[in-house]
Amino acid sequence: MTATPLLSAEALRITFPGRRGAGPARAVDGVDLDIRPGEIVALVGESGCGKTTLARSLLGLVPPTAGRVTFGGEPLNYSGRALKAYRKRVQLVLQDPSGSLNPRHTVYDAVAEGLRIHGYPGDEREAVAEALSRAGLRPPERFFLRYPHELSGGQRQRVVIAGALVLKPELIVADEPVASLDASVRGEILALLLRLRDELGLSALVVTHDLGLAWNIADRVAVMYLGRIVETGEVEQILTAPRHPYTQALLSVLPEADGEPVILSGEPPDPSRVPSGCRFHVRCHVLASGEAERAGVADACRTRDLPVLAGGGATQVACHWAAAV
Ligand SMILES: Nc1ncnc2c1ncn2[C@@H]1O[C@H](COP(=O)(O)OP(=O)(O)OP(=O)(O)O)[C@@H](O)[C@H]1O
Ligand code: SF4
Ligand SMILES: [Mg+2]
Repeated sequence: MTATPLLSAEALRITFPGRRGAGPARAVDGVDLDIRPGEIVALVGESGCGKTTLARSLLGLVPPTAGRVTFGGEPLNYSGRALKAYRKRVQLVLQDPSGSLNPRHTVYDAVAEGLRIHGYPGDEREAVAEALSRAGLRPPERFFLRYPHELSGGQRQRVVIAGALVLKPELIVADEPVASLDASVRGEILALLLRLRDELGLSALVVTHDLGLAWNIADRVAVMYLGRIVETGEVEQILTAPRHPYTQALLSVLPEADGEPVILSGEPPDPSRVPSGCRFHVRCHVLASGEAERAGVADACRTRDLPVLAGGGATQVACHWAAAV
């Protein structure tokens, strides 16, 4: 757990101007997060909690309002040239392979595109074939002249992954990489990401609203609520013994969960109206049931904000009640 992080968010904030008279939207509201070499980190949370905004910022696509992103210990340089070089090392894989692939481009051209943008000096055909093989499309030549509509959803996602791999990145950021795929194909794509980690030492940040998926793939998980990481640590520990009421609620609705599901009450979270105190308190079942009161922390829940969790590997939770019991 001592390896220097490859990619880090440090006290990162991203605020968007408010929409229709609303205040500014604090989409990412103070996040520390490290991804170390060869590590797969799952970023988990409900829709709208800020996952994509955080992921895009780690890729240099959204400049921080405050705080910073570092790669290999160096702050990102947002000049056009530096960002282009950076995007060779950190690649994005998007949710919907149909949306990421141009229907008029062959598989070969789709995978070669990155090489052409970066003026790859080596043998293009060899590099494309290797990337397709690595992504599990074998023999690669069989796929060169195919068009996206001639492929299955899983094959299209493999083409997208090959397009990311061809530049030999050190890290990939995958935003809901299997959300648009059939359940039967999801496992295969997740197994592919794990194999790439093992064979190439590739690190990954996998963004998902599905804790079950995190369980299958990640070394570490970071649970995000309304712009903040509220619980983080080794995946096994967080998913078998969650301490934050929000993580408990997310886990309780998984099909394999025992016990009663916890239905989250209250309004869906709105980053232009972040509640005072614990930002989850308006929906928290531990507070609503009187448990927080019995533990003597109910006032703190309503009035005292929680510290930003450190980005490292340690298991941490941002909850007054969890700290008290
Ligand atoms: N360009 C923008 N301008 C204003 N608000 C934005 C912008 N992009 C995102 N937001 C807001 O920031 C919040 C976080 O959005 P984001 O897309 O990061 O969430 P997410 O966790 O990825 O959600 P999902 O699971 O639905 O993909 C949302 O409330 C969203 O409306
Ligand atoms: S701090 Fe209080 S309100 Fe917030 S999650 Fe913990 S128990 Fe619930
Ligand atoms: Mg998203």
